[in-house]
Amino acid sequence: MCGIIGYTGNKEAKDILLQALTLLEYRGYDSAGIAVSDEESKKTQIIKCAGRVHDLEEKCKEESNHSVCGIGHTRWATHGRGNDPNAHPHPGGSVTLVHNGIIENFKELIQEFHLKGSLKSETDSEVAAAIINTLYQENGKDIKKAINEAISKLKGTFALVILVEEEPDTIYSVRNVSPIVATLCDEGAMLASDVTALCQFTNRYFVVPEYHILELHPDCLHLWNLFGVEKEPEYLVADWELNSAEKNGYPFYMEKEIMEQPKAIEATIAPRIKRGLPDFSVDKVPDSVFTKCDRICVVACGTAMHAGLVFQSLVKSVLHMHIDVELASEFMYSDPVIDKKTLLIAVSQSGETIDTLEAVKYARKQGAKSLAIINVKGSSIARESDYVLYTNAGPEIAVASTKAYTTQLAMFYLILARMAYLKKIYKPKETKAFISELSKVPEAMEAVLKKRHEIHVAAREVLEAKDLFMIGRGLDHSLLLEGSLKLKEVSYIHSEAYASGELKHGPIALITDRTPVVAVATQEKILHKEISNIREVRSRGAKVLIFVKEQFAKDLEKEFSVIKLPNARDEMMVFSASVALQLFAYYVSSDKGFDVDKPRNLAKVVTVE
Ligand code: G6P
Repeated sequence: MCGIIGYTGNKEAKDILLQALTLLEYRGYDSAGIAVSDEESKKTQIIKCAGRVHDLEEKCKEESNHSVCGIGHTRWATHGRGNDPNAHPHPGGSVTLVHNGIIENFKELIQEFHLKGSLKSETDSEVAAAIINTLYQENGKDIKKAINEAISKLKGTFALVILVEEEPDTIYSVRNVSPIVATLCDEGAMLASDVTALCQFTNRYFVVPEYHILELHPDCLHLWNLFGVEKEPEYLVADWELNSAEKNGYPFYMEKEIMEQPKAIEATIAPRIKRGLPDFSVDKVPDSVFTKCDRICVVACGTAMHAGLVFQSLVKSVLHMHIDVELASEFMYSDPVIDKKTLLIAVSQSGETIDTLEAVKYARKQGAKSLAIINVKGSSIARESDYVLYTNAGPEIAVASTKAYTTQLAMFYLILARMAYLKKIYKPKETKAFISELSKVPEAMEAVLKKRHEIHVAAREVLEAKDLFMIGRGLDHSLLLEGSLKLKEVSYIHSEAYASGELKHGPIALITDRTPVVAVATQEKILHKEISNIREVRSRGAKVLIFVKEQFAKDLEKEFSVIKLPNARDEMMVFSASVALQLFAYYVSSDKGFDVDKPRNLAKVVTVE
């Protein structure tokens, strides 16, 4: 969703802003804009348009003035369509701002500040600009005072980044919930909605605390609380290399990120294995977190929720424990049963998904302990949770999540093993055996990646499909839910994943001649039942492709198109099957000529409910 950048320093601001907005494109947006200050004229120039950052770049070429201070924004429409007037930045007299979030009481504020008739857009954001300007003029042009007063009136979530004409080299920012990170580096001072936009310059950054005013100058920055007391920023260091957000020769980030998975899994598990056993001491997560709960509740959205479903299958079969996996967007409104004996596990790549964040806050109020599985250091969910496990996947830019998912799975496997060990369900030797199999996952993934051309050929068979079904049982079904989401996100083919045994209760009515069906068969104890279900759809004309564990392939390959997955212990097959399905979705999308990394209507970071 909305991306934000602000820069003041010694370089051409327009170039830096446009470059950063390109890096933020992955968040999803429908218009883009920048505002730059002019030191001499003390005017702020706004350039914005509906469409892509590339369109904005073209528009900027028509403007020749120079500036070393400015703000930029990519907008994912919430209030009003994705057109030119609604694009940010928004002016309000001397003030110009960009906004991420939703100001819920903007209609009341229009009344209170008599703004009716003076606004040029349909956005809640322009209202914030107008209010800050009014208060700025009323408060003797004291911008900090104006911001302070304005935010006491705003209801909802916001990250506001503000320029005032009278201070052309300064940027102000304040936030509630919606994130802002900032840094000071050789090129100047910067802020952004996420660290991806900064990581070409530095990997040192801090998260601006809520309800604090940040003031950026070319060579320094100040952070103030609302009582005017200056605070020291708490810097973090991202483990990401400065070029890790680049495509490195791949046509799309999605392909690059799929290929990075063996390394990402290694980075997730290696620091958490000590003497062959899973160990979270590096994360300062005490064993009591796992031993003192009698119930687990996983909350997450999208792909992260699917990782939770795999964990659920394993918790039930290995730990025999009560576990719920909840869609975070439904959780809050479902009167969830959460108490002191519940361990709430929040899973989120970005750490900013608002529904997941709200669920963590709710759990805290109920006295539950929360453990977050997060990719982005210092993100809101990470800060809100009692304990955090970072997945170390590096920046994930493609909207369709791949390496974040498999590293979340790897983290869940470590948790499962630790819990089984602590509860003495696994003896030390069994725990070590499990971990040793987990350590072989990167190698198995490499083997699947080497087969990518075979998967590409299979993907060509479904390019014309309107509907597609994915079927499997047990763990295969859980991973297919994610495989199916991947395909629909990037290829726009209507794809549904079904538990194979459930087909007869409805979906089989939709199977007709040449309906593509993708099956996954990796679980020994249900293999024969799965094969029967595959035959049932084939008998009704379905065109079946099976991703099958190599040792089960012998008979199946005589009858069906199969892609063999390297043999591993059944629980570990999830990883190689997931990589295969990601590649399948990727090739369908790229062969159809779509912009794989930026599927229509989707956002990478979902910061509104
Ligand atoms: C969006 C993204 C998905 C992601 C989901 C949850 O829908 O496009 O890829 O799975 O949000 O995001 P999170 O950052 O919480 O994992």
